[in-house]
Amino acid sequence: MSTVLGTLDHVLLMAPGPSPVAPNVLQAMSLPTLGHLDPDCIKVMDALQDQLRAVCKTENAVTFPISGTGSAGMETSFVNLIEPGDAVLVVNNGVFSSRMVEVASRLGAEVDVVESPWGTPVKIEDVKAQLAKKHYKILAVVHAETSTGVNNPVAEIGELVKGSDTLYLVDSVAGLGGVDVQVDNWGIDAFYSGSQKCLSVPPGLAPASFSEAAMDAMSKRKNKVPNWYLDVSLIRKYWEGSPRVYHHTAPINMYYGLHQALDNLLTEGLDAAFARHKAMHQRLVDGLSDMGFSLYVKEGAAPQVNLFVPPAGVDANALRGCLREKHKIEVAGGLGALAGKVLRVGVMGEGARPEAIDKLLTAIRTCISK
Ligand SMILES: Cc1ncc(COP(=O)(O)O)c(C=O)c1O
Repeated sequence: MSTVLGTLDHVLLMAPGPSPVAPNVLQAMSLPTLGHLDPDCIKVMDALQDQLRAVCKTENAVTFPISGTGSAGMETSFVNLIEPGDAVLVVNNGVFSSRMVEVASRLGAEVDVVESPWGTPVKIEDVKAQLAKKHYKILAVVHAETSTGVNNPVAEIGELVKGSDTLYLVDSVAGLGGVDVQVDNWGIDAFYSGSQKCLSVPPGLAPASFSEAAMDAMSKRKNKVPNWYLDVSLIRKYWEGSPRVYHHTAPINMYYGLHQALDNLLTEGLDAAFARHKAMHQRLVDGLSDMGFSLYVKEGAAPQVNLFVPPAGVDANALRGCLREKHKIEVAGGLGALAGKVLRVGVMGEGARPEAIDKLLTAIRTCISK
């Protein structure tokens, strides 16, 4: 091991991503690297696609991890579906939905937004009213807003465009694996997540899934997808084709990790994993309430992303510093207008365990009692 790597701290990751990685996932990632067209590599890829369909609750043929972080999933979804001048409606109540606006605008879309204040879930009536005013090619929403700790009502919003030709695009980077996702039942056409949140894999893959309607829209494009690397029509030939066609060199060791993590999740059972996230969220909320912290979100609080306002006299940034320096625990600070005002704590994947929550609570108690 290099001298630099030999000095790294072992940090308990309790920010809303990246989350702790299970030892068997790290072990899987250290298996020998295989070539991207090796029959054993294809075997892992096939298993991965089946696992992702199970976790996303979809029959979509086009379901695979994009090589890149959650943002690559976002870029892939928009760049394949948008052509200049297309009308896109973004439900905006946080940093990541604002990023959607930026990504769609850069592609030449005419973007409208339905806003709701940070920390509150979007109102269905507001989305419905906007959809009644104009026809949109895409309706986009962030399931779990990592900047505010809100889970938006993705299933209900999807009902508004079911049966129409508006494509429903959902970001569940911070949701998949921690809370229920039903790609098919909720009428989602373009879906993406990230490996480093509730799936508890290091950052680097963005599981994605596209419906037949989304694939149909892609096939009817007037112009080529302006990004070669993220062009789904090319990437799918590598994931599904017979024979497989090289597109880019597969990050195979990341595939091993994701495969093992999905195996862990499916072996536990999705419902059991969701119940565990909820229970650990409650354990954290109870423990911090006893110390005078209050949950920032009053309605629609996401169990996996928790924002806490510290009690008077406790500085959020100083507390974060104490946790990292004295206890080797990472939590995140607020984003945007919430910078310095809140702690953002992940209850995600392997971090949603009693030992992790209790270790964090004990450390916070020690830090604030000084
Ligand atoms: C909801 C949401 N969308 C997108 C992203 C971007 O993902 P990444 O940082 O993995 O590129 C994040 C990251 O935190 C996120 O929370």
